[in-house]
Amino acid sequence: MSLADLALPLVKQLPPEAAHTATLKGLKLGVGLPNISPASWNTPVRLPVSDLQLSNPVGLAAGFDKNAEVHGPMARFGFGFLECGSVTPKPQPGNPKPRVFRLADDQGVINRLGFNNHGLDYFVRRLRRAPPGPNCPVGANVGANKTSTDFIADYEIGIATVYPVCNYITINVSSPNTPGLRGLQDKSALQELLARCERAHIAAQSAYATDHGDHDDGAKPVFLKLAPDLDDAALADIIQVIRTEGHWLSGLIISNTTIDRPDGLRSPGQTETGGLSGAPLMEKSTRVLKDIASELIGEFDLIGCGGIRSGADAYAKIRAGAHAVQLYSALIYHGPGLVARINADLAARLQSDGFSSVAAAVGADLPSPA
Ligand code: FNR
Repeated sequence: MSLADLALPLVKQLPPEAAHTATLKGLKLGVGLPNISPASWNTPVRLPVSDLQLSNPVGLAAGFDKNAEVHGPMARFGFGFLECGSVTPKPQPGNPKPRVFRLADDQGVINRLGFNNHGLDYFVRRLRRAPPGPNCPVGANVGANKTSTDFIADYEIGIATVYPVCNYITINVSSPNTPGLRGLQDKSALQELLARCERAHIAAQSAYATDHGDHDDGAKPVFLKLAPDLDDAALADIIQVIRTEGHWLSGLIISNTTIDRPDGLRSPGQTETGGLSGAPLMEKSTRVLKDIASELIGEFDLIGCGGIRSGADAYAKIRAGAHAVQLYSALIYHGPGLVARINADLAARLQSDGFSSVAAAVGADLPSPA
């Protein structure tokens, strides 16, 4: 057990955001970090469309390391990949505090942080100083400034700026805490977003190739991160737009937090405004993943996110169509040692169900094609 896990009961006594700040400080100091190889569980996976090679499918979701400050230490807990951000072009403070709430009785979290971050320049400096290691790809999740008059321009700037320093890019249009942002998932806005981001991506790739000559390994993958709050009509529109204007994307991350409050929540904090994550999001986000996978599996890489706190949850996402998964909220309740336990349990489940690899189990719960 690492010091980070041992300190968990103490950290949990603090209000949620203070606990996070203390955790980041501890990680930056590097006190008592374990050194778990991401490859310890023999569950490597290659995302077929993006060609990302992961030594295991369990990743850190965006929001934990918004400023790309602790991806190095976090890799030592055995994550297969890490996503930093969301980062916006300019630094911004986010919403007034308190803005993160534990729903302890439900193993959930509500946050309305509102993209508090130090901005792109700082983010890129951090990743230049500590580039991604060879065994643990790092993604850069880009967002838009609250006061921006052209959200899409912020994504164009984000793509151009993070391109040289990361292994993949995520376009995050699904945070509920920046007014109007989720509107970019509407049909015509999404068409414009994807068309303009494609041009920004092509330009970034060609600038990078010019700088790196022979070492250019092809375009860096781009993912689109979606909200789980999509009805059937919205989902059908998104799938259609992704197939057309989004053909150049490598994949989708499903999902961000939900603005729904499912029946049965017990914690007093449930009435707070913001995005709900953790255990109460597992069922809904997996359902949306499965709906999208039944249309797009094979054409795009799918990353399942939302409510994962066990090997069984990670396995359910993989069987629903995910090649890889991400988690965040469960770390708040169970500490970073959870990553190793999920990986070990996942490996055991694959073996006992007779799957020779993660890839063999991807989409196992989807109806077989007629
Ligand atoms: C998040 N999440 C998030 N997502 C994102 O794309 N950009 C961000 O900046 C943040 N920030 C953030 C802060 C906090 C405190 C939380 C709890 C979550 C969403 C996160 O990446 C993930 O999509 C959801 O939390 C669902 O996964 P979990 O937490 O249920 O495993």
